[in-house]
Amino acid sequence: MRRGGHRDQVFLATKGSALPRPSPNLWSADGTPDWNLARRTFEGAGADTLRHAVDASLQRLGTDHIDLYYVHVDDLTTPLSETLEALAGLVAAGKIRYLGWSNVRTWRLERIRQLCDRHGWPAPVAVQQQHSYLRPNPATDNASITGHEQLDYLAAHDDLTLVAYSPILKGIYDDPARRAAHGVMESYAGPDTDARLALLTEMAADLGVTPGQLVLAWLLHSTPRVIPLIGPRTPEQLESALQALDVKLTEDQLQRLAG
Ligand SMILES: NC(=O)c1ccc[n+]([C@@H]2O[C@H](COP(=O)([O-])OP(=O)(O)OC[C@H]3O[C@@H](n4cnc5c(N)ncnc54)[C@H](OP(=O)(O)O)[C@@H]3O)[C@@H](O)[C@H]2O)c1
Repeated sequence: MRRGGHRDQVFLATKGSALPRPSPNLWSADGTPDWNLARRTFEGAGADTLRHAVDASLQRLGTDHIDLYYVHVDDLTTPLSETLEALAGLVAAGKIRYLGWSNVRTWRLERIRQLCDRHGWPAPVAVQQQHSYLRPNPATDNASITGHEQLDYLAAHDDLTLVAYSPILKGIYDDPARRAAHGVMESYAGPDTDARLALLTEMAADLGVTPGQLVLAWLLHSTPRVIPLIGPRTPEQLESALQALDVKLTEDQLQRLAG
């Protein structure tokens, strides 16, 4: 982007607040992160932290503005008014165009929006959460995963768009062996999981696509509106994900999948 001079053709999004304070205990010898330690020591969404993070991002990216800037992890310890006022200042300075929030519970979104309304601060337009075709297990208590209440809230507030991260749950839909072994399934092993996987696999075969492609297509047809945030690691995975854009689902097919 910087070298090619194509900045105006790129919608640039990045995030701040979730960098953990450096510690030798953050990574184990095999490269696995200690998530509990990371969450306890993340830098948070204080005003100074965000101002410095945005300036550092702009410098690294070689641009003068970010199109969409997320608070990466909702910070329950910094007063929301401090965070929002700082972000409003960054928008007023032209360094950020739109705001987003990630890993956040619905009641916090409502509080954020009310504060913005009261003070005339720009409100978030995007909420980035883990969201896919499988439904989270009812026992799962995870602020990062969108559940029924959040979907209801988003359906009632179409000025806020759900950006779905890990939309294909790390590739588990296309690979039963990966599914059996992957930690991501801990939040999804529930009463209807097997039935939904079986239906998805059957319908994908009928449509001549992979189950992962059908999940992406289903998300693109969703109400409330969902933008799947794909995570391809190879050019082939990118190509495969892009093909989901051409999968058109009928009302009947959508109803079967919703089942
Ligand atoms: N806000 C947050 O806290 C948060 C958290 C997580 C992610 N994100 C964002 O969301 C983006 C996507 O998340 P994610 O990486 O977890 O998404 P994902 O698409 O669910 O998982 C990516 C993994 O799935 C596999 N994969 C990707 N495309 C595939 C394809 N076409 N067919 C089969 N397997 C495929 C690859 O596994 P292999 O590497 O094994 O091939 C890849 O590493 C990230 O880039 C990140 O920016 C945000």
